[in-house]
Amino acid sequence: IPVDDFDLVIFGATGDLARRKILPGLYRRFCSGQMPETARIIGAARSEHDDAEFRDVVRAAINEFSKKNDCDDDRIGEFCERIHYVTIDARGEGGWSDLKGLVRSGVVNAYYFSVAPSLFGDLAERLQSHGIADENARIVVEKPFGRDLASAKKLNADLAKHFEETQIYRIDHYLGKETVQNLMAVRFGNILFEPLWNSQYVDHIQITVAETVGVGGRGEYYDKSGAMRDMVQNHLMQLLCLIAMEPPSRFEPDSVRDEKLKVIRALEPVDHHNIVRGQYDATKTEASYREDAGDPKSRTESYIALRCLISNWRWAGTPFYLRTGKKLKARTSEIAVVFKDAPHSIFPEDAGRHANVLVIRLQPNEGMTLQVTIKEPGPGGMRLIDVPLDMSFAEALGEEAEDIPDAYERLIMDVIRGNQTLFMRGDEVEAAWAWTDPLIHGWEARHDVPKTYDAYSSGPEDSSMMLHREGRRWRELKE
Ligand code: BG6
Repeated sequence: IPVDDFDLVIFGATGDLARRKILPGLYRRFCSGQMPETARIIGAARSEHDDAEFRDVVRAAINEFSKKNDCDDDRIGEFCERIHYVTIDARGEGGWSDLKGLVRSGVVNAYYFSVAPSLFGDLAERLQSHGIADENARIVVEKPFGRDLASAKKLNADLAKHFEETQIYRIDHYLGKETVQNLMAVRFGNILFEPLWNSQYVDHIQITVAETVGVGGRGEYYDKSGAMRDMVQNHLMQLLCLIAMEPPSRFEPDSVRDEKLKVIRALEPVDHHNIVRGQYDATKTEASYREDAGDPKSRTESYIALRCLISNWRWAGTPFYLRTGKKLKARTSEIAVVFKDAPHSIFPEDAGRHANVLVIRLQPNEGMTLQVTIKEPGPGGMRLIDVPLDMSFAEALGEEAEDIPDAYERLIMDVIRGNQTLFMRGDEVEAAWAWTDPLIHGWEARHDVPKTYDAYSSGPEDSSMMLHREGRRWRELKE
C-alpha cells in the first residue's frame, strides 16, 4: 500500500546508519512500489556535497548493503532522482535556509536524526526557529536514548520544548522485526495460548539474544556502554514487554504502549546474585574483549544474564531469564516459554520434565516451535518422547516470506503513515532506565569485575549456575 507523499530529511546522511540501513531500506520500499512518485529524500550533513556527489554516496551504499539481487543500476538511478542534499551546520546557522527552501509544505515532513544524541536538542531547536517544521512534522530519533535516567530525561525535555510527543518517533529497531510483531499476533490473535500465559502454567521464560560478532571496531563506543545499556535496556526490555504485557484493548499506539509501560514499572529490582556479567577471552587469532575495547582493565560487560521478576497478578513468582552477549557460540535470538509439568503424571517414569516449550525464533530462520510429548513409536510400552511441532515462516509462507521488509524499512514507513505503535514513548524509555540504573550503580559500587568466558562458547559458567541453582537450564545456543 503506497503511503502519502513525503519529504524525508536525514540528518547524518553520510553516516554509518544511514548508509547501512536507512538508504538501502528506502530503496527497497521504492522497488516495492511503496514510495509515491513525487516523494523525496533529502540528505543533510556537515560535509560539502552537491546532489550528484551525494547520489554517488547513496548508489555505493545500496550496492554495498543491499542484497545482491535487489541491485539494479536502472532502478537505483531512478531512486537517486528523488535524492537531494544540503550541507548543514547542526550547531550553527549554515544551510538551514537552503533546507527550508527544499522541504515542501502540504506533504508529510519527517526528520530523521541519525546523529549523536548530543545534537538532538540543537536540531530540534533549529527546525523550529527556522520555521521548517510545522505541527504535522515528525522527528525520528535513534538509540542510545540516554545512558541513564537523568540523561534520558534531559533528551526528552529538550525534544519536548519543540515537539509534541505525538510527533516524536523513538526507534528501537527490534520492534520493527517481523517476528517481534508476530509475538503480538501469536498471543492476541489465538485463543490457544493466552489462557496458559501466566504463572499458574508457565514455569519460566528465557529471552536470548546471542551474537557471534565481537565489538571489533566499535570497541571505544561499546566500552562506555556494555551489554546492559546496549541491548538489555532497550531491545531485550521490549521483548520482555511484548511477552509479558496484558492484552491491550486495541492495537493502537497508546493502548499498546500503556500496557508495555505497566510491565516495566512492575519489574522488581534484581539483586546481584541474579546478575552475571562476562567478557570474552582472546582466541589464538582474535583479540579479547579488553583488547578490542582498548582498555586492559575494562570492567564493561560483553555478556549479561539476569533473572527478573515481574510483580503483578499474572507473573508473580515466574522468573524471566534474560541473556545477551557478543562472541557467543551461535547467532540466535529466541524467546522460550517453558510450561510447567502436567499436575499429575500417569507415566511415572516421565515425571519432572518440562514437556511443553513454545519457542519463538526471532532470527535467523524466523519461526515457532512447540515441543510436545508423544509416545515413542514401537512396541516397547509407553515410552514418551518430546517432538517439535515446527513451523518455519519461510516454509509456511513461501515467496511472501522473502518479501518481509527489514526492520528499518517498516519503521520508516510507519513514520510516514503516522503510526507510533512500534515506537517507544518517552515515559517507557525513562521507566526502563529507572529500572536499569540501580543495577548498574550496584555493580559499579561493588567494583564488580566481569567473568571471562571463552570466545564462541555459551558464555560464563556462572550464568549456567544461576539457572542450575533453581533446577533449570538455559536452552542450548544453536542456529
Ligand atoms: C544494536 C546494538 O542496537 O543492535 C549492537 O548496538 C547489536 O551492539 C545490534 O549488535 C543487534 O541487532 P540485530 O538486528 O543484528 O540483532
